[in-house]
Amino acid sequence: MQQRLIAGNWKMHKTVQEALAFIQEFAKLAPQGNQVEIAVAPPFLALHAVGQSLGDGDYPFKLAAQDLFWEEEGAFTGEISAPMLKHLGCHYVIIGHSERRRLFGETDEEANKKVHAAIRHGLSPILCVGESLQERQAGRTSAIVREQALRGLQGVSSEAIQKVTLAYEPVWAIGTGHAASVVQAEEVHTLLRTTFQEQWGQAGQEIRILYGGSVTPENAGELFRSAHINGALVGKACLNPQAFAKIIHLASPIPQ
Ligand code: PGA
Repeated sequence: MQQRLIAGNWKMHKTVQEALAFIQEFAKLAPQGNQVEIAVAPPFLALHAVGQSLGDGDYPFKLAAQDLFWEEEGAFTGEISAPMLKHLGCHYVIIGHSERRRLFGETDEEANKKVHAAIRHGLSPILCVGESLQERQAGRTSAIVREQALRGLQGVSSEAIQKVTLAYEPVWAIGTGHAASVVQAEEVHTLLRTTFQEQWGQAGQEIRILYGGSVTPENAGELFRSAHINGALVGKACLNPQAFAKIIHLASPIPQ
């Protein structure tokens, strides 16, 4: 089985001091070894300090950013570029999160430009897709997630696609305490897998597909029993070091 990725999206939480305290505490609890790949995505302001503490502590956690802008530099007040993130030691960057789409009007075309900028500068994009409750109730889930994934990844070569991770995050499950059931998640993960294979052949078969939306230590065990779920993008529960460490333990493959 592919190595799972568990990424913690801190969203707009934690000062630099709180971020450093979290890393110290979490490092004591997180599973050792490389059975599961672990990434943390603090706010931009804490990336430098967290990146340094990961290096100093020799911790096996990867640094992720929550967003980027597609231009390299210039008069773009308030924006952060891919080379800036790369320079800080970021490995991953989350792109097209539903909060960016819903609250800041981000489109698939913009997400696509961000994906290309990330790849150009050696960052691995985690592209988020997911339907709203209304879309699900109207029977449009498959069409929406397929469209978001294909538009967001348009023009990515089969070589570059190997750097991409996809996160299926139903909007109705994010921050609500109501995660998708394993059956609901598997249905979409299988659809995305087929879509990727059609589009990128063998390389498409290897894209990791994470689930996100109210993942907790209580439901993670069940979600990770599914071989179709290649990891998780965790919001609220990743802010607590004990809960985040527990989720990672649950994602670890059981020794045969
Ligand atoms: P949640 O957030 O775990 O708090 O639902 C997930 C996400 O937004 O990535």
